[in-house]
Amino acid sequence: MKKKDSSIYSDSDFNLLRPKFLKDFIGQDDLKKQLRIFIAAALGRKEPLEHVLFYGPPGLGKTTLAGILAQEMGTGIRITSGPALSRAGDLASILTNLKEGDILFIDEIHRLNKVVEETLYPAMEDYALNIIIGKGPSAHSIRLKMKKFTIVGATTRIGLISSPMRDRFGFVYKLDFYQPQSLAQIVLNSARILKIDIDKEGALEIARRSRGTPRIANRLLKRARDFAQIKEKGIIDINCAKHALESLDVDGLGLNDVDRKLLELILKSYKGGPVGIDNLAAGLIEDVGTIVDVYEPYLMKLGFLKRTPRGRVITEAGKKHLGEKGALQPKLV
Ligand SMILES: Nc1ncnc2c1ncn2[C@@H]1O[C@H](COP(=O)(O)OP(=O)(O)OP(=O)(O)O)[C@@H](O)[C@H]1O
Ligand SMILES: [Mg+2]
Repeated sequence: MKKKDSSIYSDSDFNLLRPKFLKDFIGQDDLKKQLRIFIAAALGRKEPLEHVLFYGPPGLGKTTLAGILAQEMGTGIRITSGPALSRAGDLASILTNLKEGDILFIDEIHRLNKVVEETLYPAMEDYALNIIIGKGPSAHSIRLKMKKFTIVGATTRIGLISSPMRDRFGFVYKLDFYQPQSLAQIVLNSARILKIDIDKEGALEIARRSRGTPRIANRLLKRARDFAQIKEKGIIDINCAKHALESLDVDGLGLNDVDRKLLELILKSYKGGPVGIDNLAAGLIEDVGTIVDVYEPYLMKLGFLKRTPRGRVITEAGKKHLGEKGALQPKLV
């Protein structure tokens, strides 16, 4: 069956746990306050939203917010991503099919290629596209006008967005890691939706170990449910949550095996650093992008790792955490 463009919420891959409206989106209070004004003002003027760019580590709610913007504005949404838009023609056909006020969500917008990116500029500014038809001497350029639409871009790598691109967004916002209290609320809501038995302390324990990230909190909740069902009395209380997460090798701060290996590698093989990211990636057999996007932001947030001009350095707090975990025994890759 063909996916209906405007209905990410009624598709079969519908994610039950994604909040639909701003009032159900937990945490990020400052962002919600700003978005409420931004939405109400656009609705008041009966205009589409200006283009929006969300950035921040994976799993913090960028895609969810794009869906919420469409719901709150009462518009359709089309979803695509930087790597999927490989030709200017693809972009042209999507944009010319948008209705007035529709949202085009471009995930991983930092991965748009240069040609497509430059085609997007006049589209974002003037709702027009200049397309070259044909090749050689017979080539000519036509200008396509389109309805007013909103681009919502998402990226985990704001540093890779060119400044002309960034300047075309009217609203740019960084999503930050969530506080444990907000994550606990998300866990309790998800548990209610999924009919999982959990108490407040159990939810808070999962929240504390979720790296400030709702997607991880939801995943750990499901794993704790399995654990409760098989090994415990069925309800996720603090002890059950602790046992479940320990069995997954998630420590008290939410660090996993790879986080600890990364810190250990810097400490033991590079005397605490500085060490270049390429060496770390080779040592861990991980992709540089994954280390930069997924592992480092939370380690830096905890103050365990620092990026310096000469490379990555482990901090005293990072060393202490490894020591406390008894992780100093050789366990290196
Ligand atoms: N504020 C929130 N309240 C409740 N649930 C949330 C919230 N933010 C995110 N979630 C949950 O976390 C999951 C991940 O969020 P989402 O897919 O929007 O993250 P993302 O920032 O787009 O990640 P990526 O960069 O990997 O694309 C969602 O499915 C949703 O269930
Ligand atoms: Mg996403």
